[in-house]
Amino acid sequence: MKKIYHHIVFLTGAGFSAESGLATFRGNGGLWNGCKVEDVATKEALANNRNKMFDFYNHLRREAAAAEPNAAHLALAELQKKYPGEVSIITQNLDMLHEKAKSQNVVHIHGQINQFRCLNCNNVQTARGDIFPDMPCPCCGVRGYIRPNIVLFGEPLFFQQQAALLLKSADLFVAAGTSGEIYPAAGFAGEAKENGALTVALNLTIPKNHLCFRTVVLGKAGDNVPKFAEKLLALADIARRRR
Ligand code: APR
Repeated sequence: MKKIYHHIVFLTGAGFSAESGLATFRGNGGLWNGCKVEDVATKEALANNRNKMFDFYNHLRREAAAAEPNAAHLALAELQKKYPGEVSIITQNLDMLHEKAKSQNVVHIHGQINQFRCLNCNNVQTARGDIFPDMPCPCCGVRGYIRPNIVLFGEPLFFQQQAALLLKSADLFVAAGTSGEIYPAAGFAGEAKENGALTVALNLTIPKNHLCFRTVVLGKAGDNVPKFAEKLLALADIARRRR
C-alpha cells in the first residue's frame, strides 16, 4: 500500500452490519420467514403482493431501528475524521448504522429503510414506524400509492452519477461485507480498478467478483475494518513525519 491516499472509497454491504445483529441477504442468513429478498424487492411484488412486501420491509425497519453500529461502523467513522485524505462511503445497506456511528456523506445507492415515497406526488417522507399499502400519503392524502423508498431489482440505483464520480477519483477502493453478486454495485470494484485504484475486499467469504480485487482479506468486518483503518492511519502518519 502506498502511504497517503488522496481518496478512499468504501463500498459496504449487508455483512458490514451482520455483527450488529442484522441478517445478510445471502449465505448463512438472509431469510425472514422463508422469504427471500428476491421475492419481495421486485416491481411485481409492489404491484401484486404489496402486503408481503410491506411486511418484509416493516420487519427490516424494526430490526434496523433497534440495531447499534458495530466496531466496523465506528472504525470507518473514525477513519473519515482522522485520515488526511478524503474517505467516502457508498452503501448498499438500507439501515442507517453508518449515520448512527456518525459517518458523514453516506451515499445510499439502494435507498433507506427509514423512508417511504408516494408514487402520486413523489414526495419522500420519513417512516418512523410500520407503513401500510393503503395508508394515505401524508403529503397529498391519496391512498394506495406509497412504497418503501428503496431500489427494487431492475430499478436504477439512487445517486448513480455521484457514485460514478466517487469511483473515478478513488485511488483506493475497499468493498467490505458484500458478496459481489448483485449488479450494478458488484461492478464498482472493476470500475475503480479500471480507473487506476488499488482494490481491496474485506469479507467473510470470497466474494463472487474476487477477480476485480488486488487483495482479498477474509474475516469479520468487526475485526478487519478496524485493523485496516489503523494500518491506513499508521502509514499516513509515517508519510507525514517523513515530509
Ligand atoms: N463480516 C464481513 N463479511 C460478512 C460478515 C461479517 N461479519 N457476515 C457476512 N459477511 C459477508 C458474507 O460472506 C457475504 O459475502 O457479507 C456478504 C453479504 O452478502 P449479501 O447478503 O449478498 O449482501 P450484499 O452484498 O450487501 O447484497 C447486495 O442485494 O438483495 C440485495 O438490496 C440487497 O443491498 C443488497 C444487495
